[in-house]
Amino acid sequence: MELPLLLPSFMLILFSFSMTLPLICEPHLSLLNNLADRRALLSFEDHVSIDPSNVLGDWSTNMNFCKWTGVSCSKHMQRVTYLNLTNTGLQGKLTPHLGNLSYLQVLALRNNRFHGSIPHEIGSLYRLQVLVISLNELEGEIPASISGCKKLQRLILS
Ligand SMILES: *[C@@H]1O[C@H](CO)[C@@H](O)[C@H](O)[C@H]1NC(C)=O
Ligand SMILES: *[C@@H]1O[C@H](CO)[C@@H](O)[C@H](O)[C@H]1NC(C)=O
Repeated sequence: MELPLLLPSFMLILFSFSMTLPLICEPHLSLLNNLADRRALLSFEDHVSIDPSNVLGDWSTNMNFCKWTGVSCSKHMQRVTYLNLTNTGLQGKLTPHLGNLSYLQVLALRNNRFHGSIPHEIGSLYRLQVLVISLNELEGEIPASISGCKKLQRLILS
């Protein structure tokens, strides 16, 4: 019988809680996501067998991954938005972990020696606008999952 009286204050508490919750959680959440980005980049590096000009030489150091060669991040969230390692002679496979770079807008790996297939996880990159993987030694089919890349404007595979 006191419920109707209680309800407004309960809702107020709930409301203010839901207002502050994102503020409390966001730094931790984005830190976790940053770790996923970092792990994805390290996996990318792991899948490279030969790096003739040592472009990945500054990767995996204690330096912020946003400053690694070929990587750019969004300013506020420090998420990887751009990965460009064009003409670097990299040899290896493409890691499925690329699909975890959920803020990626540009992936440019033109003129390298990546082989194997295009991981279907690439379809998770729903912010991806540019995918340039021409002049590599990739084989197999374009994964159907690519339809998940809703923002894709340029797809260069030749
Ligand atoms: C990638 O970097 C090269 C220079 O290293 C540049 O010519 C090319 O336009 C860049 N690609 C994209 C998609 O930004
Ligand atoms: C990233 O992707 C891989 C392979 O797709 C997966 O196994 C892994 O759990 C993912 N998440 C993180 C946080 O690394």
